[in-house]
Amino acid sequence: MNLIDKFHHWRRKLRWNKQYKSGRWDSLESDKEAKRYEKIISCISNYAPANPSVLDVGCGDGVLTLRMQGGYSYFLGVDFSSVSVEKAKARNLVNSEFLAADAIKFKPERNFDAIVLNEVFYYIHDSEKINVMDRLLNALNDNGVLVVSIYREGIGCWEYFRENPKLEELEFETVRTDEELRYWKVAAYRKT
Ligand SMILES: C[S@@+](CC[C@H](N)C(=O)[O-])C[C@H]1O[C@@H](n2cnc3c(N)ncnc32)[C@H](O)[C@@H]1O
Repeated sequence: MNLIDKFHHWRRKLRWNKQYKSGRWDSLESDKEAKRYEKIISCISNYAPANPSVLDVGCGDGVLTLRMQGGYSYFLGVDFSSVSVEKAKARNLVNSEFLAADAIKFKPERNFDAIVLNEVFYYIHDSEKINVMDRLLNALNDNGVLVVSIYREGIGCWEYFRENPKLEELEFETVRTDEELRYWKVAAYRKT
């Protein structure tokens, strides 16, 4: 990223902190969003080994962890918003840790059975997308699963997964709701 991009990136981080502080993202826990989390969880349980270790990049305030109800051996949530991370920690969820770190710099210190990019990949600057993917794929076990959720069409995002020779697509589904414009595409990948 050039200097201007870095400045905007920093501003966006401040904005996320402000929004989490104001409760703007509390709605992620509502029933309107439930189907997306259910689909992600079913991809993890269908394609990752039982009782998986899970890395959730851009974890927000820990809604996925909450919804998994302890169905993992270890859960690490990473988000660059320190406010969301503090909110996630305050939930005191079992076998879980939350870390304030930027996805564009974060290098996992261990491997995981499931890595989740849940409504975050479109926020990663284009110049960083490949680096982020490479670092995450290095930390994914060979029999593990990468699960990606992207709101609506995900223009400029899906090619990083669908056209990636390092990935085999296991599932790709559009998760719809009773609102025409509230839908997500959720996919699961294995390393080739
Ligand atoms: C729409 S929220 C989704 C939160 C969570 N994945 C969920 O669906 O419950 C997007 C999240 O991505 C985080 N985020 C955006 N850019 C990031 C980056 N470069 N590194 C880490 N987190 C980032 C934001 O702070 C925010 O928590």
